[in-house]
Amino acid sequence: MLIFLVLLSLPANNAEQAVNKADAVLLRAVRGLDARLPCGQGKLFLDGPESYVLWLKNDKDFMYRFPSDDYEKRRATRDYMFGTPCESSFCHDNTSLVIKNASDRDQGLYRCRVHYQASPSVDFAIELRIVESSGLPKLYDGNGERLNKGFIGPLPLGSDITLICEIDDKDPNTEVYWRRNGILVEHSYMSRPGKLRVDITLRNLSRNELDAHYECLAQNSDVSEPLSASVTIKMYLAPMSVEIRMDNNYDFEAGQPRVVDCVVVGCVPPPAITWTLGKKVVRPSVHKELHDGNYTVSSLSLAPSLRDHHNELVCTAHNSHMAESVFQDKVTISVGYRPTCQIGREEMIGAVVREAETVKCVVDAYPEPKQFTWTFPDSKTLYTSVTKLPNYPNRYTSTLTWLAREDDIGKLMCRASNAFGEQKKPCTFNVTAGGPPDLPECNVRRTYPNSLRVQCVKGWDGGRPQMIHLDIVDEDGTRIKNFTDRSGHFFIPNIVNKKNITAVLYATNSRGTSVGRIIYLQSLKAFSDGNNFIQSTWMPYIEGLAGAVALFIAAASITLGLKILCSRSDDADVINPDIVPRTDGLFYRESDTIGDERLHGPTDSCVNHPAACQNQYSPSPLPTCRVLVGHGPHSSLDACPSSQHSYYV
Ligand SMILES: *[C@@H]1O[C@H](CO)[C@@H](O)[C@H](O)[C@H]1NC(C)=O
Ligand SMILES: *[C@@H]1O[C@H](CO)[C@@H](O)[C@H](O)[C@H]1NC(C)=O
Ligand SMILES: *[C@@H]1O[C@H](CO)[C@@H](O)[C@H](O)[C@H]1NC(C)=O
Ligand SMILES: *[C@@H]1O[C@H](CO)[C@@H](O)[C@H](O)[C@H]1NC(C)=O
Ligand SMILES: *[C@@H]1O[C@H](CO)[C@@H](O)[C@H](O)[C@H]1NC(C)=O
Ligand SMILES: *[C@@H]1O[C@H](CO)[C@@H](O)[C@H](O)[C@H]1NC(C)=O
Ligand SMILES: *[C@@H]1O[C@H](CO)[C@@H](O)[C@H](O)[C@H]1NC(C)=O
Repeated sequence: MLIFLVLLSLPANNAEQAVNKADAVLLRAVRGLDARLPCGQGKLFLDGPESYVLWLKNDKDFMYRFPSDDYEKRRATRDYMFGTPCESSFCHDNTSLVIKNASDRDQGLYRCRVHYQASPSVDFAIELRIVESSGLPKLYDGNGERLNKGFIGPLPLGSDITLICEIDDKDPNTEVYWRRNGILVEHSYMSRPGKLRVDITLRNLSRNELDAHYECLAQNSDVSEPLSASVTIKMYLAPMSVEIRMDNNYDFEAGQPRVVDCVVVGCVPPPAITWTLGKKVVRPSVHKELHDGNYTVSSLSLAPSLRDHHNELVCTAHNSHMAESVFQDKVTISVGYRPTCQIGREEMIGAVVREAETVKCVVDAYPEPKQFTWTFPDSKTLYTSVTKLPNYPNRYTSTLTWLAREDDIGKLMCRASNAFGEQKKPCTFNVTAGGPPDLPECNVRRTYPNSLRVQCVKGWDGGRPQMIHLDIVDEDGTRIKNFTDRSGHFFIPNIVNKKNITAVLYATNSRGTSVGRIIYLQSLKAFSDGNNFIQSTWMPYIEGLAGAVALFIAAASITLGLKILCSRSDDADVINPDIVPRTDGLFYRESDTIGDERLHGPTDSCVNHPAACQNQYSPSPLPTCRVLVGHGPHSSLDACPSSQHSYYV
């Protein structure tokens, strides 16, 4: 060790700038604390790998060399003296000399010599003096209460507080000062015998003071860290804002869950958040505190029903320190659903080329649909306006009338759309070639002794409402009686079965007549079994393939029975096709409302509300009668029915 020192001291002797003890800077260190002796003022720059710094005490004792091989080792063992670059997150110059737990024997002359590679070495001398500690500062509030919990509060906004820092020290050279978040702040000295006291007063506490760190430092040395005591300002604060975030979309599809956030900003402590919808309490699914609790977010998965429509959704933030105050945001939600088709099955439409056809689309929706969109098999699209159906809360209808073309055969679809979007499953219509109706399927029975009961299941109506007819014809083709019924149910009493007469069954619509079915009435047999009639179906019978009209002109002979039948034909009970008396009361016709509406009901096509429609094929306002879309005018067309407005596709 000695040899090493001698060798080391050689260059020092050669140095020209030998500093006298008189030039030494006097620095104080506090007994019992670490002292950090700087080498010169400011940072040193060593000018190459060969340059180094030497620390000597009293010009004879080697203390520390930087850089050196054992530097790291000394640092690791936290030896008596060493230079440390960093300690408790604060970085020092590692050319400085650190004296741990300074005591009286550390007093003396210290010399720091910088050996440059390219320039002469430089000496810095320090006279180190050990002084007594000022003692730890003690903190009090304005009422003289000791602040030793590390915080004060929680305080409300606008509070006034005084922080007092006191140390038991008479030394006027001791500096006592306050720092706020590490920055020196204004302070005022108060003198009391034997004590040093520094106050700061904070008036009208603002949000900025939240968690502010106030630190009082006492410093009576040059190279020891000051002694300090600190306090943090705790506050409670009302939220700066409570906001339900819905992106300006207050529409909820009934039953479909949607996540809604309520964001509370600046509430200290972070609030509890509750939700209500109307009078119901709803439970949020997620509660999050973000940015150190400055943001509190409560997420709600809301699946309201139609009953919640126009109810208020309220988010309330509860600050545990402000129980009386209400912090909330409210929104009024709309609940609805997109249109759904109310036509159960696919409807068959019988279209005849160049004839006006009307179809009606019925949907349930909330709110009201804006329009209906019709798509033809060839992808052509038409729009129609909306009519509310009375007696139903949320049912809407729209009617399309158009002039059929060959291309229209196939699937016609109708979709309504409202604020919640377009109907997912369209209402569909199977457009087929229309014409006369199909022959109905009839069950013909004779009941004892001479009544005729006919029950028909109607066939396809060919696109127009149909009537079922039953004619009684004699042998020479003369029509003796005719019966007409919309539902195809007939009951004819008092037919004399001994006569050679025929019954003809057929259906008609505005487009024509179906084929007819001829029944030879004399082939019918009736059986009696006590009080019950056993009825046999009419066997055998021949179905005519020709039209009913052809049958009427077929020749047949008149029989006596026919005359008897004719003589009874004045009897209104027999002839009236609408109400036919039966043994068990009156028989009423089945109603056929769909057919009625199609024929006579008011139609509500887009034409009536031109402004509400955007018909892609006809941008101009539609006239009240025929509009030809994608075609030239058809001069051969019939005049418009007065009750119906039509477009033509
Ligand atoms: C000394 O400190 C400087 C910065 O001040 C740093 O770059 C260097 O790495 C430190 N040396 C050692 C050995 O820690
Ligand atoms: C500092 O040194 C004194 C004796 O000089 C000793 O009593 C004390 O325990 C030491 N303190 C620390 C923290 O090492
Ligand atoms: C407190 O400060 C607020 C703004 O931070 C100000 O509006 C208010 O007037 C102040 N109150 C007093 C009593 O100074
Ligand atoms: C909290 O958030 C608000 C709004 O973004 C901001 O103005 C304020 O400074 C924040 N406060 C803190 C303590 O981060
Ligand atoms: C439309 O009706 C016709 C006749 O009943 C049938 O053959 C056809 O399969 C139907 N089309 C669709 C798409 O249902
Ligand atoms: C059916 O009978 C009624 C009278 O009962 C008659 O006015 C009508 O013309 C008849 N229909 C046909 C098609 O013969
Ligand atoms: C009844 O009419 C059919 C056909 O018109 C005929 O073949 C038959 O001989 C007739 N029967 C009687 C008893 O007149």
